[in-house]
Amino acid sequence: MAGPVNLILVGEDETDRLGRAVANHLSPGNIVLLRGGLGAGKSALARALIRQLLDDPVRDIPSPSFALVQPYDRPSGPILHADLYRLGHAAEITELGLVDHDQAILVV
Ligand SMILES: Nc1ncnc2c1ncn2[C@@H]1O[C@H](COP(=O)(O)OP(=O)(O)OP(=O)(O)O)[C@@H](O)[C@H]1O
Ligand SMILES: [Mg+2]
Repeated sequence: MAGPVNLILVGEDETDRLGRAVANHLSPGNIVLLRGGLGAGKSALARALIRQLLDDPVRDIPSPSFALVQPYDRPSGPILHADLYRLGHAAEITELGLVDHDQAILVV
């Protein structure tokens, strides 16, 4: 069984490349959880990943900090980009509709 992989990303271009590479391994129903401190590069990784999934390298990918969930439609199922940082309780995950679509790719 494969263990954890540690990657050092030197510069935003490498974050971008990782995001695109991860996107190419995702299928409907998959969940990507990003965790890290302020400015760790979570949004940059999510942006690259979602642009790749949408096959649109210049698509505006706004931060979901205020809307909490930013949806994108695709023929194979939606992408839901969510920010859970401001949630007060785990039940809000259900209220936000994050588990409504079993064919969604969820990027948190
Ligand atoms: N590998 C990298 N090396 C250097 N800078 C990077 C790298 N990846 C992303 N950045 C840059 O770091 C800055 C912070 O990234 P980003 O906004 O994605 O962080 P974040 O984890 O979403 O932060 P926050 O928690 O505040 O939302 C951005 O300007 C981004 O372009
Ligand atoms: Mg961010």
